[in-house]
Amino acid sequence: MRATSFADGSGRALRDEIPITPSVQSVLVVDVGGSSVKILATGQNERRSFFSGPTLTPGRMVSEVKKLAGDWCYDAVSMGYPGPVVDGRPVAEPYNLGRGWVGFDFRAAFGCPVKIVNDAAMQALGSYKGGKMLFLGLGTGLGSTLIADGVVEPMELGHLPYKKRTYEDYVGRAGLIRHGKKRWRSDVADVVARLVAALEPGDTVLGGGNVKKLKTLPPRCRAGDNANAFRGGFRLWEATAPAREPRLAPNDALAGSKGAPPPARGSQSFSPPSTGKAAAWRALEAHCASMQGLHLRDLFRDDPSRGERMTAEAAGVFLDYSKNRITDETLRLLVELAERSGLRTKIEAMFRGEKINVTENRAVLHVALRAPKGASIIVDGENVVPQVHAVLDKMAHFACRVRSGQWRGHSGEPIRNVVNIGIGGSDLGPVMAYEALKAYSDRAMTFRFVSNVDGSEFIEATRELDPAHTLFIISSKTFTTLETMVNARSARDWSLRGLGGDARAVAKHFVAVSTNAEKVSEFGIDPANMFEFWDWVGGRYSMESAIGLSTMVAVGPDNFRAMLEGFRAIDEHFRAARFDRNLPALHGLLGVWRNNFCGAPTVAALPYDCYLKRFPAYLQQLTMESNGKHVTLEGARAKVRTSPIYWGEPGTNGQHSFYQLIHQGAEIVPCDFIAFGQSLNPLGRHHEMLLANVLAQSEALAFGKTREEVEAEGASDWLAPHRVCEGDRPSNTILMDRLTPASLGKLVALYEHSVFTQGVIWDIDSFDQWGVELGKILARRIIPELESKTEPELTHDSSTNNLIRRARELAGAS
Ligand code: F6P
Repeated sequence: MRATSFADGSGRALRDEIPITPSVQSVLVVDVGGSSVKILATGQNERRSFFSGPTLTPGRMVSEVKKLAGDWCYDAVSMGYPGPVVDGRPVAEPYNLGRGWVGFDFRAAFGCPVKIVNDAAMQALGSYKGGKMLFLGLGTGLGSTLIADGVVEPMELGHLPYKKRTYEDYVGRAGLIRHGKKRWRSDVADVVARLVAALEPGDTVLGGGNVKKLKTLPPRCRAGDNANAFRGGFRLWEATAPAREPRLAPNDALAGSKGAPPPARGSQSFSPPSTGKAAAWRALEAHCASMQGLHLRDLFRDDPSRGERMTAEAAGVFLDYSKNRITDETLRLLVELAERSGLRTKIEAMFRGEKINVTENRAVLHVALRAPKGASIIVDGENVVPQVHAVLDKMAHFACRVRSGQWRGHSGEPIRNVVNIGIGGSDLGPVMAYEALKAYSDRAMTFRFVSNVDGSEFIEATRELDPAHTLFIISSKTFTTLETMVNARSARDWSLRGLGGDARAVAKHFVAVSTNAEKVSEFGIDPANMFEFWDWVGGRYSMESAIGLSTMVAVGPDNFRAMLEGFRAIDEHFRAARFDRNLPALHGLLGVWRNNFCGAPTVAALPYDCYLKRFPAYLQQLTMESNGKHVTLEGARAKVRTSPIYWGEPGTNGQHSFYQLIHQGAEIVPCDFIAFGQSLNPLGRHHEMLLANVLAQSEALAFGKTREEVEAEGASDWLAPHRVCEGDRPSNTILMDRLTPASLGKLVALYEHSVFTQGVIWDIDSFDQWGVELGKILARRIIPELESKTEPELTHDSSTNNLIRRARELAGAS
């Protein structure tokens, strides 16, 4: 027998069908709160309770509960826990109780099966009457849970930024005490209105102890009852949903559906252990097969409003996804896949600072880099947001001194040239952002970027620079990367040579951005001139950390902060918006559709703004270093294709180069067109022409040119097939008003979270990069073999040995 979607005690598992233990007759429900622990068992009328408080440990709680329920019969326990729960286990210590809850073995302690769920989710479940319900618990904090068609999504909306702090700070108990009842009530009304507008529930329940302090309930809300927590606890073990059955049949049912149409070209089978996800995947395969033969021309003809409907907009970013081969059903099934994959829970896990980079046991917190002052994100017991702002302030102080000429070089001259030395994420983000925001930069200064270990790059970058006016920013998370260290040493030699050989010059001409203070000082850079970041910032997610120091010097602190606000706007949207209106989630899911179901193995990123010329290169690292993995989180071989190959160039240049293949090639290449309504440099009719081109490309790709149209133009029989463009080639168009620091932040955050969404669907660790290591190690072995004065003994394969010998000969011959 299988239970329904909410027969489990965690965010992710709640969405899957879990086998019910048939022997469960009586349930003991334990509602753990900050001031008391309340219990009730099947068949009992009177609840019992005892005091909890800040010293309560889980061991003491269980023994008190067992004592208090000594005369009750039960063979399973449901527990409402005052903190986040993932996969039925508490994942963070409760802030209002004692320690030891994470990792505690409740099953062993109770001696029977235990289902644990977040306390707000348990109360929500007890209040649920069907459809889509938002539950907000007004207690010490702000609990929140969404239940949609029986699928329970515990959420942490309370930690979202609001005014100067977070929602919870205003509508939790602290807000009530700080601002008084009147202001608290108006904040509650505002917060409820915002969340209702974002999530669009059919039913909103306000629970928690403080709901009785409201004079009137906000429109379309009903008051919950704390006793519903018990009802929710009993429901956790019920075999059937009170409202509706889950939309998807369990795995076995689908696996047995032999009559289902075969998967479409390029679709792949997926059979992960979690049941609902496999079913969602198969439903998409079947749906894809049923769409064979449908052309974008048909889809647009049958729905004249498609071009307006299949769009989404948030924070000034407009996404037109109508020119993808999808229907409303495709979207519904993709959203279902996201839900069944635990996307909501994983988003929350990321924002809460959980160690979701499992192979490196690290949190993934680029979102903390743009969190507002006053927000709180705890990593290893410490709030990281104040550290982020302290570094930002230090960067701003430094940037202002360099820009104003206050920071002087060794010979007393102001700095006029800045050279960033770094590679991968320590280069691609900074160079992309500098190019993108050039219009906002200090034109009296020169910015150069050196990444490649090819000495020509360093020579060219420094060719006409004066060492007296030149500052090097050595950017490296590890401060061990070969290319960066070699370039940094060449820079030090170049600098000292030009400044009379005085080693003290390094202090005035070198600063470092790193997580490795020891290596920085070993190199000779004063740690006072080091700008810190942290292991929870991945290299490819670091452009808005101290790695963006060159960007800040170029455009100034105010523009840099505006860029961070752009990032933040999309972060908030990604965290709060429902998936079918959520730009990054939609973008990521459409990518999955194109890649795994429509069989398109690449994506072309095509910005129609020359300032974004390095954006495709930046995206290559972001997407492919993140999702270019074939091993799942469990260590198994992925059964589906993961990251597609990203490539691209700014339009219109690409049109006169590789677009031929996109229009008429044998492979389908989905495109992302990126354009802005206004030019930063209005010049005659240039911008209208640029825009006309980008719009024409997506139109041509979608609709093409039929044989009839070609013949009507007089093409002969043999020429006509060459001139036909079959169309039906998918594209997204991303439109914004103008390229500003904020819009750059939004664009990057959109792609970051799209990559995250896809990593969740493919079940991979998007934040490690083990594949890059092997080549680095082998290169270190070959370096001495190339440099050896005598013939080295080579023990590689015959090809590598031969190439090394040849390279040595050629080097000697030059
Ligand atoms: O190439 C692998 C990589 O580790 C990237 O992820 C990273 O952005 C780059 O090298 C540079 O690393 P670091 O900043 O430590 O020098």
